[in-house]
Amino acid sequence: QDSLYHEKNRPQFHYSTRRGWINDPNGMIFYEGEYHLFYQHNPYEREWENMSWGHAVSNDMIHWEELPTALSPDSLGTMFSGSTVIDYTNTAGFNRGNVPAMLAFFTVDNPEKQVQCLAYSLDKGRTWTKYSKNPLIDSKAKWNSKDTRDPRVFWYQPGRHWVMVLNERDGHSIYTSKNAKEWHFESHVTGFWECPDLFELPVDGDKNRTKWVMYGASTTYMIGSFDGKTFKPESGKHSYTTGSIYAAQTFTNMPESDPRRIQIGWGRIPQPGMPFNHMMLLPTELRLRTTKNGLRLSSVPVRETEQLFNRVGQWTSLPAAEANDKLKSLPSLERFRIKATLKLSHATSAGLSLFGQRILDYDLNSNLVNGVFYSPEDMTSMEVTADIYVDRTSVEVFIDNGAYSYSMERKPISTAKESLQFWGNRIEVKNLELFTAQSIWK
Ligand code: FRU
Repeated sequence: QDSLYHEKNRPQFHYSTRRGWINDPNGMIFYEGEYHLFYQHNPYEREWENMSWGHAVSNDMIHWEELPTALSPDSLGTMFSGSTVIDYTNTAGFNRGNVPAMLAFFTVDNPEKQVQCLAYSLDKGRTWTKYSKNPLIDSKAKWNSKDTRDPRVFWYQPGRHWVMVLNERDGHSIYTSKNAKEWHFESHVTGFWECPDLFELPVDGDKNRTKWVMYGASTTYMIGSFDGKTFKPESGKHSYTTGSIYAAQTFTNMPESDPRRIQIGWGRIPQPGMPFNHMMLLPTELRLRTTKNGLRLSSVPVRETEQLFNRVGQWTSLPAAEANDKLKSLPSLERFRIKATLKLSHATSAGLSLFGQRILDYDLNSNLVNGVFYSPEDMTSMEVTADIYVDRTSVEVFIDNGAYSYSMERKPISTAKESLQFWGNRIEVKNLELFTAQSIWK
């Protein structure tokens, strides 16, 4: 049998659990030099069941150590998605001496309803005590719906209060609290489903000009303003990424010196024949940029991922046939990264396929990238740049510096070198960079 983390199809530069099922990232927080990734987890089987919070920690978001299960089902039900915060000013009264409590807010699911609960940890998320007066919120009757879940909590400094964004029936509600235990309903935005996130981002990197982003599980978002109680949308609904990603969340409590908004999404990538199932996608930095269509989110892998890749070649201005030759110089097609800029001077479509699967398919005529509408910033350039990450069972692609991205299951999993090919009539591969990828597992 293959040793742990080196099983045949185990992702080598993405997080996956030792055993069992994972879905949503939960409670993502940076605290005392550690990134915490909790997640929906079935520790016993490869299927969705026995929902618990799994737990992993990292110093760089790249190399992860899996820790024992953080939250297990109890008499109220199973542990659904949620978030964590650090209670620096002891609002909830759980701090011990000068050790602030890490608070976890999560949904407890049972056949009848979904209620919001609290637990606290005084040892950096290793062990947890559930609050004796759970649940905090039981809103099934109010909404006449069982779909009340996924509390996302953060501290709102201007109002000196906690904010909880909660999925309730047909959208995201906002609650506030002074003590993290008693919560007051404030407002509701319809048009979202599951796993809310709400965060402030600088516009074009300018700290003095910010907007708020309301976010749902399917990666749709609205841009607007937030006064601590109400989110006012100022845009339609947009999406910057598609494919296997779902229920992404962002790290909170980032240090002042590093205010990046970093997201990790659940990769709905089946792992047949493995002791584990599904995976996390690469951590990406979210930015709000002014585009010709207005403000939009973009997402690129965090700079920490660079340590994983060794560039083995770079070429410019290659005809497709020559570029295909260069692709053969990749030592292995098991895991790798390719950066390519295609110029479609005489073609209306072009791309890159891997064993017949179109991992890049750009149709300039209809402005489609892998079947989804995408309009490049410069419509007349006839160029598209793709940064492509292949890790055994998965493919992630970032188009034009993260203006649009997508992820997919790689199938079939073949490593025949002829299978990697640019296609398109008389295209030019304006830039081509090939990288090998290291493993994050020892
Ligand atoms: C999203 C979701 C959440 C829920 C969790 C249960 O994938 O359905 O709404 O809390 O998964 O595992």
